[in-house]
Amino acid sequence: MCGIVGYVGNNDAYPILINGLKRLEYRGYDSAGVALVGDGCTLNVYKTKGKVADLEAHASGKPLGGSTGIAHTRWATHGEPNEANAHPHVSQSGNIAIVHNGIIENYATLRSQLSAKGYQFKSSTDTEVLAQLIDYFNTALDLPLLQAVQAALRRVIGAYAIAVVDSRAPRRIIAARKSSPLVVGIGNEGDFYLASDASPIIEYTDRMVYLNDGEIAILPAGGEMEIVNLDNKPVELNVTRVEMNISQLEKGGFPHFMLKEIFEQPDCLNDCMRGRVNAQGQPLALSSLRFHSKRMLNASRYIIVACGTSWHAGLIGKQLLENFAQVPTSIEYASEFRYRNPVINPSDVVIAISQSGETADTLAAVELAREKGAFIYGICNSVGSSIPRNTDTGCYIHVGPEIGVASTKAFTGQVTVLAMLALSLGMARGTLSHDEARQAVSQLTRIPGIIKETLERINPQVEQLAKMLTYARNVIYLGRGYNYPVALEGALKLKEISYIHAEGYPAAEMKHGPIALVDEDMPVVVIATRNAMYDKVRSNVQEIKARRGRVIAITTQGDTAMGDLADECIALPEVPEYLEPLITTIPLQLLAYHVAVCKGKDVDHPRNLAKSVTVE
Ligand code: G6P
Repeated sequence: MCGIVGYVGNNDAYPILINGLKRLEYRGYDSAGVALVGDGCTLNVYKTKGKVADLEAHASGKPLGGSTGIAHTRWATHGEPNEANAHPHVSQSGNIAIVHNGIIENYATLRSQLSAKGYQFKSSTDTEVLAQLIDYFNTALDLPLLQAVQAALRRVIGAYAIAVVDSRAPRRIIAARKSSPLVVGIGNEGDFYLASDASPIIEYTDRMVYLNDGEIAILPAGGEMEIVNLDNKPVELNVTRVEMNISQLEKGGFPHFMLKEIFEQPDCLNDCMRGRVNAQGQPLALSSLRFHSKRMLNASRYIIVACGTSWHAGLIGKQLLENFAQVPTSIEYASEFRYRNPVINPSDVVIAISQSGETADTLAAVELAREKGAFIYGICNSVGSSIPRNTDTGCYIHVGPEIGVASTKAFTGQVTVLAMLALSLGMARGTLSHDEARQAVSQLTRIPGIIKETLERINPQVEQLAKMLTYARNVIYLGRGYNYPVALEGALKLKEISYIHAEGYPAAEMKHGPIALVDEDMPVVVIATRNAMYDKVRSNVQEIKARRGRVIAITTQGDTAMGDLADECIALPEVPEYLEPLITTIPLQLLAYHVAVCKGKDVDHPRNLAKSVTVE
């Protein structure tokens, strides 16, 4: 939530900042702004409601010089999305500008204390309070800027990633982090880049420093970067080389990132499995298990924590882990888990699933589990993000940067890792023979090819079908067993990007309430593939048809019986039941996408959403 970019060096800051903001727009797009500091101690701030393109239009023709700058794209927490509340915020003295990602929880108290000292506020944001507090220590108490930032941050309760510039020291940025992500890129010739993640930086340098909580980075153009803590003690610099393919950050000929990411899934899943399946003479080799097998194998329980789409993947993970490894597994919303004094034992393994690796609730759940002595396993996509850095071990899904706000390839990547994990644990625990594992892995490796064929075949059909759903006000999604979480995920996708109300249910639960909603105006999407649950789900479809509901069925190729019953069928190749989610989710992703396009919605930037939720 909210994206921050900074640059200090030898080049014009403005184009670097604007390009960086575009890469971070997935983090929020309520407003955008930039502060440019010129060598002549000028400070120019431009900001506007709306997206980065609106900012460019707003700033066009205005003075844009300066080789130091900070910029921000906002997901509103405090104060409505308008120009006054857009970042950067400039302090009362006019010297200091700041951008912020996070929440200052005690901002109301600080604001009234500062008001009593004569500070006036132009916005209703928590960030402006921080700008004025730094200004107070700097101007009224005469502390140098770094000490003023440290003093202000010591008084702040909450989460922040901030970047601060001072027009009187035009060749420097000060940045700090607590619970919100911040990465510094070390360029050539004393250039420094700063961002909420590595994507705006990677085209300039692969040498990155991920700041830890409580660290403050001092970035002087042409000089050496330093890190200190809030008490001004020096902190050792840990430079990592980050690999990222820049083409993954572009749309590559697709009209939207979401469609590109849906179509990328075959390649992504191959990348996810590369080096892990059929490696070292084994059906499966996960390095995270090789080095931590004792804790993982002897766990009395697995507890999965996650949010949103990752939570849906976790629901599938629970079934896979219980099925193959025979270890009791629970699945929790991270936001609920962290606040309810859960029973966690040192023999438990907590599995945190997160695409971004930055979700505040999941991160807090990890910290709680650690305090209680559990072993923590992370399943993340964003390399070097906070969750992988705070877990004992884990497995990256390696599907590449996901830019579309509605998660697609991360979901299938997470399910693939969970399948590999469950099969590996099953093998190691002896609940699955090597032969069974080998067969399962051979089925798993067929999946990318099946997705590829399916995407090409069904996309035109789903596009046509989507036109029928455009006018729906509500849609029900039903599935059972491994496909119940897919029903939840399909409904979430539709809600997120087309704003049509949709609910997912286990198919058999329909008769306990939702069936009351069924009439000729209610489309019901049913995952009715030929598996152990087929006959039961078919009865559910009959019950819907008896009430004149319109059924769109996701079926197995060759199933004519379901074809006669349902209004529309999308037929998929047969795969083992435990791998079905990787296939059945594909038509639901496409359906949500095409409905949103038909409705003229901004698919990659759905209203009110952000991709990386770094606030509670
Ligand atoms: C947000 C995103 C979802 C995502 C969820 C959890 O709500 O819009 O797509 O599933 O956060 O994010 P994570 O990065 O932890 O998977």
